[in-house]
Amino acid sequence: MTTIVQAAYIVSALLFIMALAGLSKHETAKTGNAYGVTGMGLAIVATIYLALKGADAEGALGIPAAVGLIVLAMAIGAVIGIWRAKRVEMTQMPELIAILHSLVGAAAVLVGYNSFLTEKGLRDVNSALELTGSLATIHSVEVFLGVFIGAVTLTGSVVAFLKLSTRISSKPLTLPQRHKMNLAALLISAGLMVWFVSSGNVVPLLIMTVISLLLGWHLVASIGGGDMPVVISMLNSYSGWAAAAAGFMLNNDLLIVVGALVGSSGAILSYIMCRAMGRSFISVIAGGFGGAPVSTEEKDYGEFRETNAADVAELLKDASSVVITPGYGMAVAQAQYPVADLTARLRKRGINVRFGIHPVAGRLPGHMNVLLAEAKVPYDIVLEMDEINDDLPNTDVVLVIGANDTVNPSAEDDPSSPIAGMPVIQVWKAKEVIIFKRSMAPGYAGVQNPLFFKPNSAMLFGDAKERVEDILKHL
Ligand code: TAP
Repeated sequence: MTTIVQAAYIVSALLFIMALAGLSKHETAKTGNAYGVTGMGLAIVATIYLALKGADAEGALGIPAAVGLIVLAMAIGAVIGIWRAKRVEMTQMPELIAILHSLVGAAAVLVGYNSFLTEKGLRDVNSALELTGSLATIHSVEVFLGVFIGAVTLTGSVVAFLKLSTRISSKPLTLPQRHKMNLAALLISAGLMVWFVSSGNVVPLLIMTVISLLLGWHLVASIGGGDMPVVISMLNSYSGWAAAAAGFMLNNDLLIVVGALVGSSGAILSYIMCRAMGRSFISVIAGGFGGAPVSTEEKDYGEFRETNAADVAELLKDASSVVITPGYGMAVAQAQYPVADLTARLRKRGINVRFGIHPVAGRLPGHMNVLLAEAKVPYDIVLEMDEINDDLPNTDVVLVIGANDTVNPSAEDDPSSPIAGMPVIQVWKAKEVIIFKRSMAPGYAGVQNPLFFKPNSAMLFGDAKERVEDILKHL
Protein backbone atom coordinates (compact mmCIF):
# COMPACT_ATOMS: atom_id res chain seq x y z
CA MET A 1 0.00 0.00 0.00
CA THR A 2 1.39 3.39 -0.89
CA THR A 3 2.48 5.78 1.82
CA ILE A 4 -0.03 8.41 0.77
CA VAL A 5 -2.94 5.97 1.15
CA GLN A 6 -1.60 4.88 4.55
CA ALA A 7 -1.44 8.52 5.63
CA ALA A 8 -4.99 9.16 4.40
CA TYR A 9 -6.19 6.08 6.31
CA ILE A 10 -4.60 7.27 9.55
CA VAL A 11 -6.22 10.69 9.18
CA SER A 12 -9.59 9.02 8.43
CA ALA A 13 -9.28 6.74 11.46
CA LEU A 14 -8.58 9.76 13.67
CA LEU A 15 -11.57 11.58 12.17
CA PHE A 16 -13.80 8.59 12.93
CA ILE A 17 -12.66 8.54 16.56
CA MET A 18 -13.32 12.29 16.79
CA ALA A 19 -16.74 11.67 15.19
CA LEU A 20 -17.66 9.15 17.89
CA ALA A 21 -16.47 11.51 20.62
CA GLY A 22 -18.52 14.34 19.07
CA LEU A 23 -21.65 12.24 18.65
CA SER A 24 -21.71 11.36 22.34
CA LYS A 25 -23.01 14.84 23.31
CA HIS A 26 -25.85 16.95 21.90
CA GLU A 27 -23.77 20.09 21.73
CA THR A 28 -21.02 18.52 19.64
CA ALA A 29 -23.09 16.04 17.62
CA LYS A 30 -23.17 18.15 14.44
CA THR A 31 -19.40 18.65 14.47
CA GLY A 32 -18.98 14.94 15.17
CA ASN A 33 -21.14 14.14 12.16
CA ALA A 34 -19.04 16.47 9.99
CA TYR A 35 -15.84 14.70 11.13
CA GLY A 36 -17.41 11.36 10.22
CA VAL A 37 -18.46 12.55 6.76
CA THR A 38 -15.00 14.01 6.09
CA GLY A 39 -13.28 10.84 7.29
CA MET A 40 -15.50 8.65 5.11
CA GLY A 41 -14.99 10.92 2.06
CA LEU A 42 -11.23 10.74 2.49
CA ALA A 43 -11.32 6.97 3.00
CA ILE A 44 -13.37 6.44 -0.17
CA VAL A 45 -11.05 8.61 -2.29
CA ALA A 46 -7.96 6.83 -0.91
CA THR A 47 -9.50 3.38 -1.47
CA ILE A 48 -10.49 4.20 -5.06
CA TYR A 49 -6.95 5.47 -5.69
CA LEU A 50 -5.60 2.20 -4.31
CA ALA A 51 -7.99 0.13 -6.42
CA LEU A 52 -7.04 2.04 -9.58
CA LYS A 53 -3.36 1.56 -8.86
CA GLY A 54 -4.00 -2.17 -8.48
CA ALA A 55 -6.01 -2.23 -11.70
CA ASP A 56 -3.12 -0.61 -13.57
CA ALA A 57 -0.70 -3.43 -12.67
CA GLU A 58 0.36 -5.92 -15.29
CA GLY A 59 -2.24 -8.56 -16.04
CA ALA A 60 -4.89 -6.70 -14.05
CA LEU A 61 -8.22 -5.31 -15.12
CA GLY A 62 -7.00 -1.97 -16.49
CA ILE A 63 -8.03 1.49 -15.31
CA PRO A 64 -11.06 2.13 -17.61
CA ALA A 65 -12.74 -1.17 -16.66
CA ALA A 66 -12.00 -0.59 -12.96
CA VAL A 67 -13.44 2.95 -13.11
CA GLY A 68 -16.52 1.60 -14.90
CA LEU A 69 -17.11 -1.06 -12.24
CA ILE A 70 -16.58 1.33 -9.33
CA VAL A 71 -18.90 3.97 -10.82
CA LEU A 72 -21.53 1.33 -11.57
CA ALA A 73 -21.42 -0.11 -8.04
CA MET A 74 -21.50 3.33 -6.43
CA ALA A 75 -24.38 4.45 -8.68
CA ILE A 76 -26.48 1.40 -7.79
CA GLY A 77 -25.71 1.88 -4.08
CA ALA A 78 -26.43 5.62 -4.21
CA VAL A 79 -29.76 5.20 -6.02
CA ILE A 80 -30.99 2.58 -3.54
CA GLY A 81 -29.62 4.55 -0.56
CA ILE A 82 -31.17 7.89 -1.58
CA TRP A 83 -34.48 6.24 -2.47
CA ARG A 84 -34.72 4.51 0.92
CA ALA A 85 -33.48 7.51 2.93
CA LYS A 86 -36.05 9.80 1.31
CA ARG A 87 -38.95 7.44 1.93
CA VAL A 88 -38.18 6.21 5.41
CA GLU A 89 -40.26 7.57 8.29
CA MET A 90 -38.50 8.34 11.54
CA THR A 91 -40.51 5.52 13.15
CA GLN A 92 -39.10 3.05 10.57
CA MET A 93 -35.46 3.88 11.32
CA PRO A 94 -34.80 0.75 13.43
CA GLU A 95 -35.93 -1.55 10.62
CA LEU A 96 -33.87 0.40 8.07
CA ILE A 97 -30.82 0.06 10.31
CA ALA A 98 -31.49 -3.66 10.71
CA ILE A 99 -31.64 -4.27 6.97
CA LEU A 100 -28.49 -2.17 6.41
CA HIS A 101 -26.67 -4.35 8.95
CA SER A 102 -27.65 -7.40 6.91
CA LEU A 103 -25.80 -5.87 3.94
CA VAL A 104 -22.61 -5.55 6.01
CA GLY A 105 -22.98 -9.24 6.92
CA ALA A 106 -23.56 -10.22 3.29
CA ALA A 107 -20.51 -8.19 2.23
CA ALA A 108 -18.31 -9.98 4.77
CA VAL A 109 -19.50 -13.38 3.50
CA LEU A 110 -18.84 -12.41 -0.13
CA VAL A 111 -15.42 -10.91 0.67
CA GLY A 112 -14.59 -14.13 2.53
CA TYR A 113 -15.42 -16.39 -0.43
CA ASN A 114 -13.75 -14.02 -2.86
CA SER A 115 -10.66 -13.88 -0.74
CA PHE A 116 -10.58 -17.68 -0.44
CA LEU A 117 -10.96 -18.22 -4.18
CA THR A 118 -8.45 -15.62 -5.32
CA GLU A 119 -5.72 -15.62 -2.73
CA LYS A 120 -5.35 -19.22 -1.75
CA GLY A 121 -7.00 -22.32 -2.92
CA LEU A 122 -8.73 -24.13 -5.62
CA ARG A 123 -9.14 -21.93 -8.65
CA ASP A 124 -6.39 -19.45 -8.73
CA VAL A 125 -3.47 -21.73 -7.88
CA ASN A 126 -1.08 -19.78 -10.06
CA SER A 127 -2.08 -16.41 -8.69
CA ALA A 128 0.76 -14.15 -7.67
CA LEU A 129 -1.14 -13.62 -4.43
CA GLU A 130 -1.00 -17.23 -3.33
CA LEU A 131 0.00 -17.48 0.31
CA THR A 132 2.08 -20.19 1.94
CA GLY A 133 3.07 -21.40 5.42
CA SER A 134 1.83 -19.57 8.50
CA LEU A 135 0.56 -16.67 6.37
CA ALA A 136 -1.77 -19.09 4.61
CA THR A 137 -2.98 -20.43 7.97
CA ILE A 138 -3.65 -16.93 9.30
CA HIS A 139 -5.46 -16.06 6.11
CA SER A 140 -7.63 -19.17 6.31
CA VAL A 141 -8.62 -18.33 9.90
CA GLU A 142 -9.50 -14.78 8.80
CA VAL A 143 -11.64 -16.08 5.95
CA PHE A 144 -13.39 -18.62 8.17
CA LEU A 145 -14.15 -16.16 10.99
CA GLY A 146 -15.15 -13.41 8.52
CA VAL A 147 -17.67 -15.66 6.80
CA PHE A 148 -18.95 -16.95 10.16
CA ILE A 149 -19.54 -13.49 11.68
CA GLY A 150 -20.90 -12.16 8.39
CA ALA A 151 -23.41 -15.00 7.98
CA VAL A 152 -24.67 -14.67 11.59
CA THR A 153 -25.07 -10.91 11.07
CA LEU A 154 -26.83 -11.43 7.72
CA THR A 155 -29.67 -13.68 8.84
CA GLY A 156 -29.88 -12.16 12.34
CA SER A 157 -30.44 -8.73 10.80
CA VAL A 158 -33.04 -10.04 8.35
CA VAL A 159 -35.04 -11.55 11.24
CA ALA A 160 -34.70 -8.28 13.21
CA PHE A 161 -35.96 -6.38 10.15
CA LEU A 162 -38.94 -8.73 9.79
CA LYS A 163 -39.79 -8.42 13.50
CA LEU A 164 -39.41 -4.65 13.69
CA SER A 165 -41.50 -4.11 10.56
CA THR A 166 -44.12 -6.50 12.04
CA ARG A 167 -43.88 -8.77 8.99
CA ILE A 168 -43.40 -11.58 11.51
CA SER A 169 -44.43 -11.76 15.16
CA SER A 170 -41.96 -10.21 17.58
CA LYS A 171 -42.67 -13.02 20.06
CA PRO A 172 -39.56 -15.00 21.01
CA LEU A 173 -39.22 -18.40 19.36
CA THR A 174 -38.61 -20.94 22.11
CA LEU A 175 -37.37 -24.15 20.57
CA PRO A 176 -36.63 -26.95 23.06
CA GLN A 177 -32.94 -27.19 23.99
CA ARG A 178 -32.21 -23.93 22.21
CA HIS A 179 -29.14 -23.05 24.26
CA LYS A 180 -27.68 -26.50 23.60
CA MET A 181 -28.36 -26.07 19.88
CA ASN A 182 -26.52 -22.73 19.86
CA LEU A 183 -23.60 -24.25 21.74
CA ALA A 184 -23.51 -27.23 19.35
CA ALA A 185 -23.44 -24.84 16.36
CA LEU A 186 -20.42 -23.07 17.86
CA LEU A 187 -18.57 -26.30 18.66
CA ILE A 188 -19.23 -27.84 15.23
CA SER A 189 -18.08 -24.60 13.58
CA ALA A 190 -14.86 -24.68 15.63
CA GLY A 191 -14.24 -28.25 14.41
CA LEU A 192 -14.96 -27.21 10.82
CA MET A 193 -12.43 -24.39 11.18
CA VAL A 194 -9.71 -26.89 12.08
CA TRP A 195 -10.65 -28.99 9.04
CA PHE A 196 -10.74 -25.94 6.77
CA VAL A 197 -7.42 -24.50 7.95
CA SER A 198 -5.60 -27.83 7.70
CA SER A 199 -7.01 -28.87 4.31
CA GLY A 200 -7.86 -25.64 2.46
CA ASN A 201 -10.96 -27.51 1.30
CA VAL A 202 -14.07 -25.47 0.49
CA VAL A 203 -16.49 -28.09 1.95
CA PRO A 204 -16.07 -27.16 5.66
CA LEU A 205 -16.44 -23.49 4.69
CA LEU A 206 -19.72 -24.23 2.93
CA ILE A 207 -21.08 -26.36 5.80
CA MET A 208 -20.13 -23.67 8.33
CA THR A 209 -21.84 -21.00 6.20
CA VAL A 210 -25.11 -22.91 6.35
CA ILE A 211 -24.75 -23.49 10.12
CA SER A 212 -23.95 -19.85 10.85
CA LEU A 213 -26.84 -18.61 8.69
CA LEU A 214 -29.16 -20.82 10.78
CA LEU A 215 -27.47 -19.73 14.02
CA GLY A 216 -27.98 -16.02 13.20
CA TRP A 217 -31.61 -16.67 12.38
CA HIS A 218 -32.19 -18.66 15.57
CA LEU A 219 -30.33 -16.25 17.89
CA VAL A 220 -32.50 -13.29 16.91
CA ALA A 221 -35.71 -15.29 16.48
CA SER A 222 -35.43 -16.42 20.10
CA ILE A 223 -35.12 -12.87 21.43
CA GLY A 224 -38.36 -10.98 21.55
CA GLY A 225 -40.61 -8.25 22.82
CA GLY A 226 -38.96 -5.77 25.10
CA ASP A 227 -35.46 -7.07 24.38
CA MET A 228 -35.54 -5.95 20.73
CA PRO A 229 -33.68 -2.68 21.47
CA VAL A 230 -30.69 -4.70 22.59
CA VAL A 231 -30.89 -6.86 19.47
CA ILE A 232 -30.54 -3.79 17.26
CA SER A 233 -27.43 -2.58 19.02
CA MET A 234 -26.00 -6.14 19.21
CA LEU A 235 -26.41 -6.50 15.44
CA ASN A 236 -24.78 -3.10 15.08
CA SER A 237 -21.87 -4.52 17.03
CA TYR A 238 -21.79 -7.76 14.97
CA SER A 239 -21.77 -5.73 11.74
CA GLY A 240 -18.70 -3.89 13.06
CA TRP A 241 -16.88 -7.15 13.77
CA ALA A 242 -17.92 -8.45 10.34
CA ALA A 243 -16.40 -5.32 8.75
CA ALA A 244 -13.23 -5.74 10.82
CA ALA A 245 -12.98 -9.36 9.67
CA ALA A 246 -13.36 -8.18 6.06
CA GLY A 247 -10.58 -5.67 6.77
CA PHE A 248 -8.25 -8.51 7.82
CA MET A 249 -9.10 -10.48 4.68
CA LEU A 250 -8.57 -7.49 2.41
CA ASN A 251 -5.51 -6.41 4.34
CA ASN A 252 -7.11 -3.03 4.80
CA ASP A 253 -6.07 -1.34 8.06
CA LEU A 254 -8.78 1.32 7.96
CA LEU A 255 -11.55 -1.25 7.64
CA ILE A 256 -10.12 -3.08 10.66
CA VAL A 257 -10.03 0.13 12.73
CA VAL A 258 -13.53 1.23 11.67
CA GLY A 259 -14.94 -2.26 12.21
CA ALA A 260 -13.43 -2.40 15.69
CA LEU A 261 -14.85 1.06 16.52
CA VAL A 262 -18.35 0.06 15.39
CA GLY A 263 -18.07 -3.37 17.00
CA SER A 264 -16.96 -2.11 20.40
CA SER A 265 -19.25 0.93 20.51
CA GLY A 266 -22.21 -1.32 19.59
CA ALA A 267 -21.23 -3.72 22.37
CA ILE A 268 -20.94 -0.89 24.90
CA LEU A 269 -24.32 0.51 23.82
CA SER A 270 -25.91 -2.95 24.18
CA TYR A 271 -24.48 -3.21 27.68
CA ILE A 272 -25.82 0.24 28.61
CA MET A 273 -29.26 -0.62 27.23
CA CYS A 274 -29.33 -3.93 29.10
CA ARG A 275 -28.57 -2.05 32.30
CA ALA A 276 -31.30 0.50 31.48
CA MET A 277 -33.80 -2.33 31.09
CA GLY A 278 -32.61 -4.28 34.13
CA ARG A 279 -31.58 -7.22 31.92
CA SER A 280 -28.51 -9.41 31.99
CA PHE A 281 -26.34 -8.88 28.91
CA ILE A 282 -25.41 -12.53 28.49
CA SER A 283 -28.96 -13.83 28.83
CA VAL A 284 -30.27 -11.32 26.31
CA ILE A 285 -27.75 -12.21 23.62
CA ALA A 286 -28.18 -15.91 24.30
CA GLY A 287 -31.91 -15.44 23.73
CA GLY A 288 -32.76 -16.43 27.30
CA PHE A 289 -34.66 -13.36 28.39
CA GLY A 290 -37.78 -11.83 26.94
CA GLY A 291 -39.15 -15.35 26.86
CA ALA A 292 -41.23 -14.64 29.93
CA PRO A 293 -44.89 -15.05 29.00
CA VAL A 294 -46.80 -11.80 28.88
CA SER A 295 -49.40 -11.79 31.64
CA THR A 296 -52.82 -11.91 30.04
CA GLU A 297 -54.82 -12.00 33.24
CA GLU A 298 -57.41 -9.21 33.43
CA LYS A 299 -56.69 -7.25 36.58
CA ASP A 300 -59.11 -4.62 37.81
CA TYR A 301 -57.12 -1.42 38.11
CA GLY A 302 -60.14 0.73 38.95
CA GLU A 303 -61.36 3.87 37.18
CA PHE A 304 -59.33 6.30 35.12
CA ARG A 305 -59.94 10.04 34.89
CA GLU A 306 -60.25 11.87 31.56
CA THR A 307 -59.30 15.50 31.03
CA ASN A 308 -59.33 18.01 28.17
CA ALA A 309 -56.94 20.50 26.58
CA ALA A 310 -58.51 23.57 28.25
CA ASP A 311 -58.13 22.09 31.74
CA VAL A 312 -54.54 21.01 31.04
CA ALA A 313 -53.75 24.56 29.83
CA GLU A 314 -55.10 25.95 33.15
CA LEU A 315 -53.08 23.41 35.11
CA LEU A 316 -49.92 24.42 33.23
CA LYS A 317 -50.53 28.14 33.79
CA ASP A 318 -50.56 27.56 37.55
CA ALA A 319 -47.53 25.28 37.60
CA SER A 320 -44.04 26.38 38.52
CA SER A 321 -42.26 23.21 37.36
CA VAL A 322 -43.20 20.92 34.47
CA VAL A 323 -41.52 17.74 33.25
CA ILE A 324 -42.24 16.26 29.82
CA THR A 325 -41.56 12.54 29.26
CA PRO A 326 -41.90 11.69 25.58
CA GLY A 327 -42.12 8.19 24.12
CA TYR A 328 -42.79 6.34 20.91
CA GLY A 329 -46.21 8.04 20.47
CA MET A 330 -44.52 11.45 20.12
CA ALA A 331 -42.56 10.03 17.18
CA VAL A 332 -45.70 8.53 15.61
CA ALA A 333 -47.64 11.78 15.98
CA GLN A 334 -44.60 13.91 14.98
CA ALA A 335 -45.58 16.03 17.97
CA GLN A 336 -42.06 17.33 18.65
CA TYR A 337 -42.69 20.69 16.94
CA PRO A 338 -45.79 21.73 18.96
CA VAL A 339 -44.08 20.25 22.04
CA ALA A 340 -41.11 22.57 21.40
CA ASP A 341 -43.55 25.52 20.98
CA LEU A 342 -45.30 24.59 24.22
CA THR A 343 -41.95 24.42 26.00
CA ALA A 344 -40.93 27.86 24.73
CA ARG A 345 -44.32 29.34 25.68
CA LEU A 346 -44.21 27.94 29.24
CA ARG A 347 -40.59 29.01 29.75
CA LYS A 348 -41.55 32.54 28.70
CA ARG A 349 -44.02 32.51 31.59
CA GLY A 350 -41.16 31.68 33.94
CA ILE A 351 -42.16 28.01 34.35
CA ASN A 352 -39.26 25.58 34.80
CA VAL A 353 -39.75 23.04 31.96
CA ARG A 354 -37.50 20.02 31.57
CA PHE A 355 -37.58 16.77 29.63
CA GLY A 356 -36.98 13.32 31.14
CA ILE A 357 -35.71 10.82 28.57
CA HIS A 358 -35.74 7.08 29.21
CA PRO A 359 -32.80 5.22 27.60
CA VAL A 360 -35.12 2.93 25.59
CA ALA A 361 -37.95 5.38 24.89
CA GLY A 362 -39.10 5.16 21.27
CA ARG A 363 -37.77 2.50 18.98
CA LEU A 364 -34.07 3.22 18.63
CA PRO A 365 -31.30 4.50 20.88
CA GLY A 366 -31.45 8.30 21.13
CA HIS A 367 -34.80 8.41 19.28
CA MET A 368 -36.31 11.10 21.53
CA ASN A 369 -33.13 13.16 21.64
CA VAL A 370 -33.04 13.27 17.83
CA LEU A 371 -36.68 14.39 17.60
CA LEU A 372 -36.25 17.10 20.23
CA ALA A 373 -33.02 18.35 18.65
CA GLU A 374 -34.84 18.45 15.29
CA ALA A 375 -37.48 20.73 16.86
CA LYS A 376 -34.73 22.89 18.41
CA VAL A 377 -35.51 22.18 22.07
CA PRO A 378 -32.53 23.54 24.07
CA TYR A 379 -30.17 20.67 24.99
CA ASP A 380 -29.63 21.78 28.57
CA ILE A 381 -33.26 21.05 29.56
CA VAL A 382 -33.21 17.54 28.08
CA LEU A 383 -32.25 15.28 30.98
CA GLU A 384 -31.75 11.54 31.33
CA MET A 385 -33.90 9.29 33.51
CA ASP A 386 -31.38 9.21 36.37
CA GLU A 387 -31.05 13.00 36.33
CA ILE A 388 -34.79 13.69 36.50
CA ASN A 389 -36.15 10.93 38.80
CA ASP A 390 -35.10 12.59 42.08
CA ASP A 391 -36.80 15.86 41.09
CA LEU A 392 -40.19 14.35 40.26
CA PRO A 393 -41.70 14.54 43.79
CA ASN A 394 -41.19 18.33 43.59
CA THR A 395 -42.71 18.62 40.11
CA ASP A 396 -46.18 20.17 39.67
CA VAL A 397 -47.15 18.64 36.33
CA VAL A 398 -45.72 15.80 34.24
CA LEU A 399 -46.83 15.54 30.60
CA VAL A 400 -46.41 11.94 29.41
CA ILE A 401 -46.48 12.35 25.64
CA GLY A 402 -46.88 8.99 23.89
CA ALA A 403 -44.79 7.12 26.47
CA ASN A 404 -46.11 3.98 28.13
CA ASP A 405 -43.73 1.13 29.12
CA THR A 406 -41.02 3.59 30.17
CA VAL A 407 -43.33 5.16 32.81
CA ASN A 408 -45.02 1.94 33.98
CA PRO A 409 -44.89 1.59 37.81
CA SER A 410 -45.45 -2.19 37.61
CA ALA A 411 -41.81 -2.48 36.47
CA GLU A 412 -40.98 -1.52 40.08
CA ASP A 413 -43.76 -3.07 42.11
CA ASP A 414 -45.06 -6.14 40.23
CA PRO A 415 -42.46 -8.91 40.16
CA SER A 416 -44.69 -10.97 37.83
CA SER A 417 -44.74 -8.22 35.17
CA PRO A 418 -42.78 -8.97 31.97
CA ILE A 419 -41.02 -5.64 32.44
CA ALA A 420 -40.26 -6.24 36.15
CA GLY A 421 -36.85 -4.88 37.08
CA MET A 422 -36.67 -2.33 34.26
CA PRO A 423 -35.86 1.09 35.75
CA VAL A 424 -38.60 3.56 34.76
CA ILE A 425 -39.27 7.29 35.01
CA GLN A 426 -41.23 7.66 38.26
CA VAL A 427 -43.77 10.16 36.91
CA TRP A 428 -46.46 9.09 39.42
CA LYS A 429 -44.46 10.82 42.19
CA ALA A 430 -45.31 14.25 40.69
CA LYS A 431 -48.38 16.21 41.84
CA GLU A 432 -50.31 15.82 38.55
CA VAL A 433 -49.68 13.50 35.60
CA ILE A 434 -51.30 14.04 32.20
CA ILE A 435 -51.05 11.12 29.78
CA PHE A 436 -51.37 11.84 26.05
CA LYS A 437 -52.46 8.77 24.06
CA ARG A 438 -55.23 7.71 21.72
CA SER A 439 -56.75 4.82 23.71
CA MET A 440 -56.16 2.60 26.74
CA ALA A 441 -54.07 0.23 24.56
CA PRO A 442 -50.83 -1.08 26.07
CA GLY A 443 -47.35 -0.09 24.82
CA TYR A 444 -44.66 -2.10 23.06
CA ALA A 445 -44.28 -4.72 25.82
CA GLY A 446 -48.04 -5.44 25.72
CA VAL A 447 -48.64 -4.84 29.44
CA GLN A 448 -51.32 -2.67 31.04
CA ASN A 449 -50.10 0.43 32.84
CA PRO A 450 -51.43 1.04 36.39
CA LEU A 451 -50.19 4.65 36.09
CA PHE A 452 -53.35 5.50 34.12
CA PHE A 453 -55.51 4.59 37.10
CA LYS A 454 -53.65 6.52 39.81
CA PRO A 455 -55.62 9.32 41.55
CA ASN A 456 -53.17 11.99 40.38
CA SER A 457 -53.28 10.82 36.72
CA ALA A 458 -55.57 12.06 33.96
CA MET A 459 -55.87 10.84 30.39
CA LEU A 460 -55.87 13.30 27.48
CA PHE A 461 -57.05 11.15 24.60
CA GLY A 462 -56.30 11.80 20.93
CA ASP A 463 -53.35 12.25 18.62
CA ALA A 464 -50.52 13.79 20.65
CA LYS A 465 -49.76 16.48 18.06
CA GLU A 466 -53.38 17.65 17.86
CA ARG A 467 -53.79 17.68 21.63
CA VAL A 468 -50.61 19.71 22.21
CA GLU A 469 -51.77 22.16 19.54
CA ASP A 470 -55.13 22.44 21.34
CA ILE A 471 -53.35 23.27 24.60
CA LEU A 472 -51.30 25.91 22.78
CA LYS A 473 -54.55 27.52 21.57
CA HIS A 474 -55.88 27.67 25.14
CA LEU A 475 -52.65 29.17 26.42
P1 TAP B 1 -44.48 2.46 24.19
O1 TAP B 1 -44.50 1.66 25.43
O2 TAP B 1 -44.17 1.79 22.91
O3 TAP B 1 -45.90 3.19 24.07
C1 TAP B 1 -46.13 4.17 23.11
C2 TAP B 1 -47.52 4.74 23.36
O4 TAP B 1 -47.73 5.79 22.43
C3 TAP B 1 -48.62 3.72 23.13
O5 TAP B 1 -49.18 3.33 24.34
C4 TAP B 1 -49.61 4.42 22.20
O6 TAP B 1 -50.90 4.39 22.79
C5 TAP B 1 -49.10 5.86 22.14
N1 TAP B 1 -49.25 6.45 20.83
C6 TAP B 1 -48.99 5.91 19.63
N2 TAP B 1 -49.28 6.76 18.65
C7 TAP B 1 -49.74 7.88 19.24
C8 TAP B 1 -50.21 9.14 18.75
N3 TAP B 1 -50.26 9.41 17.44
N4 TAP B 1 -50.60 10.07 19.64
C9 TAP B 1 -50.56 9.80 20.97
N5 TAP B 1 -50.12 8.64 21.48
C10 TAP B 1 -49.72 7.69 20.63
O7 TAP B 1 -43.48 3.71 24.30
P2 TAP B 1 -42.21 4.02 25.20
O8 TAP B 1 -42.64 4.40 26.57
O9 TAP B 1 -41.41 4.99 24.39
O10 TAP B 1 -41.44 2.66 25.36
C11 TAP B 1 -40.64 2.12 24.33
C12 TAP B 1 -40.85 0.63 24.26
O11 TAP B 1 -40.31 0.16 23.02
C13 TAP B 1 -40.15 -0.12 25.37
O12 TAP B 1 -40.89 -1.27 25.72
C14 TAP B 1 -38.84 -0.52 24.70
O13 TAP B 1 -38.24 -1.66 25.29
C15 TAP B 1 -39.31 -0.83 23.28
N6 TAP B 1 -38.28 -0.71 22.24
C16 TAP B 1 -37.36 0.27 22.34
C17 TAP B 1 -36.37 0.37 21.37
C18 TAP B 1 -35.31 1.42 21.57
S1 TAP B 1 -33.83 1.11 21.14
N7 TAP B 1 -35.60 2.57 22.12
C19 TAP B 1 -36.36 -0.52 20.27
C20 TAP B 1 -37.37 -1.50 20.16
C21 TAP B 1 -38.33 -1.57 21.17
P3 TAP B 1 -52.21 4.48 21.87
O14 TAP B 1 -52.10 3.41 20.86
O15 TAP B 1 -53.34 4.29 22.84
O16 TAP B 1 -52.22 5.86 21.28
